[in-house]
Amino acid sequence: MKYLAPSVLSADFANLGDEIRTVSEAGAEYIHLDVMDGMFVPNITFGAPVIKKIRPYSKSVFDVHMMVENPGRYLEDMAAAGADVISVHAEASVHLDRDLNQIHQLGCKAGVVLNPATPLSVLDWVLELTDVVTIMCVNPGFGNQKFIPYSVDKIKALKQLITERQTKTLIEIDGGVSLDNCAMLCEAGVDIFVAGSAVFGKEPAARVKAFNEILKNY
Ligand code: DX5
Ligand code: ZN
Repeated sequence: MKYLAPSVLSADFANLGDEIRTVSEAGAEYIHLDVMDGMFVPNITFGAPVIKKIRPYSKSVFDVHMMVENPGRYLEDMAAAGADVISVHAEASVHLDRDLNQIHQLGCKAGVVLNPATPLSVLDWVLELTDVVTIMCVNPGFGNQKFIPYSVDKIKALKQLITERQTKTLIEIDGGVSLDNCAMLCEAGVDIFVAGSAVFGKEPAARVKAFNEILKNY
C-alpha cells in the first residue's frame, strides 16, 4: 500500500481543523505535521498544544516531523498531544538510539529523517529501531521547493538496504512531491508521500483524490 500524507505547512493556519478534516474525509490516511523550532531550520511553526487542539478533527495517522534541535526534549509532549508517528532528524538528535526507543515506549511509531546531504550510513546501527525513514527531497524548513533529483538514487539505495536487512521500515519522502513525479517515486520504492503545496491551496479534496488515483495502482 502507498499512502498520501498531506503536509499542513501549506494549509490555511487560520482554519487548520477544517483543512485537516477536509483532506482526511477525502481519503488522506496520514496527516503530516511539521514542527519547526527556528533553530534547526530557519522557520517556526507550531508545537504540541496546536497538535492537541487539531487531533479531534481527524482519525488519520498523525505523522509528526520534528525539525527541532535535540527533539528528545519534546517526545512525551508529542505523544500526549496525539501523535501516532514521531520522526526525528538524525542531524538534530543528540541521542538517536535513545529517542527511537523512547518513542516506542510512548506507544508511537518511530522515524528517522535524513537531510539531502546526510548519508544512509547514519542508519547502520539503528535501522531495526525504525518504523519509517524519511528522505528529505528538499532542504527542510519551507514548503513549495524544487525536488532534488539525486533523491531518487538515495530512495533506491534505502529500499535495497531495507530489503537486505529485512526490516519492516517504510520509506517516506518529503519535499517537492507532485502529481507529476509520484508515479516514478512509487517505482523507486516510496511508501508514504508527504505533499504540502501539491495538496493545499486550490481544491485540496480533489488533489487528495487525484493522488490516491495514482497511488492505488502500486
Ligand atoms: C519542509 C517540510 C515539508 C513541506 C513540504 O521542510 O518538511 O513537509 O510541507 O512541502 P512541499 O510538498 O510543498 O514541498
Ligand atoms: Zn515535513
